[in-house]
Amino acid sequence: MYKVLVSDAMSEEGLKVLKEQKEFQVDVKLKLPPEELKAIVKDYDALLVRSSTKVTKDIIDAATKLKVIGRAGVGLDNVDAEAASKRGIIVMNTPGGNTISTAEQTMALIMALSRNTAQANASLREGRWDRNKYMGVELYGKTLGIVGLGRIGTEVAKRAMSFGMRIIAYDPYLTVEKAQELGVEIVDLKGIIKDSDYITVHTPITNETRNLFTEKEFAQMKPGVRLVNCARGGIINEADLIKALESGKVAGAALDVYETEPPKDFTMFKNEKLVATPHLGASTEEAQVNVAIEVCRQVADALLGRGVKNAVNVPYVDPELYKVLKPYIELSEKMGGLIAQLTEGRTKEIKIQYGGDIVSHELTPVTVAFLKGFLTPILEETVNYVNASFIAKERGIKVVETKSSQIEEFANLISIEAQTDKAAVRVAGTLSPRKQPRIVKLNDFYVEASTSGYLLILSNEDKPGIIGQIGMILGENKINIAGMTLGRTKAGGVAMTVLNIDEEIPESVMKQIRSAKNVIDAKLIKL
Ligand code: NAD
Ligand code: MLT
Repeated sequence: MYKVLVSDAMSEEGLKVLKEQKEFQVDVKLKLPPEELKAIVKDYDALLVRSSTKVTKDIIDAATKLKVIGRAGVGLDNVDAEAASKRGIIVMNTPGGNTISTAEQTMALIMALSRNTAQANASLREGRWDRNKYMGVELYGKTLGIVGLGRIGTEVAKRAMSFGMRIIAYDPYLTVEKAQELGVEIVDLKGIIKDSDYITVHTPITNETRNLFTEKEFAQMKPGVRLVNCARGGIINEADLIKALESGKVAGAALDVYETEPPKDFTMFKNEKLVATPHLGASTEEAQVNVAIEVCRQVADALLGRGVKNAVNVPYVDPELYKVLKPYIELSEKMGGLIAQLTEGRTKEIKIQYGGDIVSHELTPVTVAFLKGFLTPILEETVNYVNASFIAKERGIKVVETKSSQIEEFANLISIEAQTDKAAVRVAGTLSPRKQPRIVKLNDFYVEASTSGYLLILSNEDKPGIIGQIGMILGENKINIAGMTLGRTKAGGVAMTVLNIDEEIPESVMKQIRSAKNVIDAKLIKL
């Protein structure tokens, strides 16, 4: 039974997805003070939030059983995703479920700004009939500057076009082709500032987007420009915006999001030229049902091992690609375990070279699987696909990935070298024609070993009698040999003998093997 804590209000239709499955116990506990959340979160496998609950490092550190944090919505500024990643906790959101609602809210605010709808309504309520005071402007023929042409920015662009607006957009991460497909003209930030009659922002809040529009940018804008922020507070500097509204440089502004939520000081809302809503972009019945159903389905699937969708800290693998990569992921993870047990000293660098027919694919999941396999035998803490790369980075291990489609001898090959402060270990693995993982090289020796059970790796003098002696010792101790190969670089030198063994070899038997004639060293590896 998995315990799920829901700490922000969420649609019952979504929660039903979890409540109707016997594997889940759902506890809804809203508005918990941080100390109370910290005290109870240790009992839960999943935490579901919207934007009110602050999932800080402190909460995450206390959440010893937590496997998934699900955000019903897009923005993750209330979740310390880095702290979660380090602890191996999946963080997922539900992009898309509230896109239309937020795009519609943006359009509503653009129109309210143009026609003074909110101010005129307030004036009527106060018993005034001010037909002259609330003269508006048309959208038709005006230029709308969109900053951030992602999901919401795109939907806003489509809707604004139907009003006959010219759309220009700034998004340094978007391809020009995508913008052209939409019929949107891509410009730089200066172009937005200089040419727009309306500016609407739809980016996440990052170091780059915080204070994107301040006094300096307002000074360069067209007189009478109108601004909208339905994305995240702080992209438009609030104090500077109020000054620009007071000076008349900015004719009107509409805000749905704020630097501090809820705001500590409500003075700015007194400004006549400001239309404001309390973070209502996603607050429609449809969007709330969408995001709640999505997050509950995603969390259920992740906990039951049915796949991870929309996680921001797990490399995403398309299901079709996963079918191709699965045997490589298994091979790579086993190679990680093997190298971890062969290396001595502090690992400084890992070089992973992919060769052959796999190189056309995105191979990050295969690299992450190697790191998981490599770090698991070394560390006390749980290493998984979420935190493996973080832990490697934290431990100062440099990971270098290269690809080469031209290789000899094998159709596909993963060659890995781990460099420690004492020595380097090199292992190569491949998939057999029947997609079975195989270790084919250990340092300079060609071998042929399967990646299941135990490997007994001997380095020995290349002299007759080794196999007989080892076979006898294992046989006397009733230990079965599943497979064996011999590798040598030259006759009469040092050779390597690798045996696949079904069960663990007791230390007393390992001692006999190590003291056998012509054996230089023997290691037992658990795969
Ligand atoms: P998205 O990820 O689909 O789009 C964001 C776009 O911003 C991307 O195309 C990205 O390339 C672009 N971008 C990133 N940095 C940029 C920069 N420095 N300059 C210009 N463009 C940049 O996200 P989305 O779903 O469209 O959401 C957009 C914003 O709206 C997010 O901040 C989200 O949290 C917020 N949001 C608010 C509400 C609300 O209730 N008001 C609801 C949903 C989403
Ligand atoms: C989001 O990021 O999805 C929105 O801000 C809406 C919300 O917080 O629910």
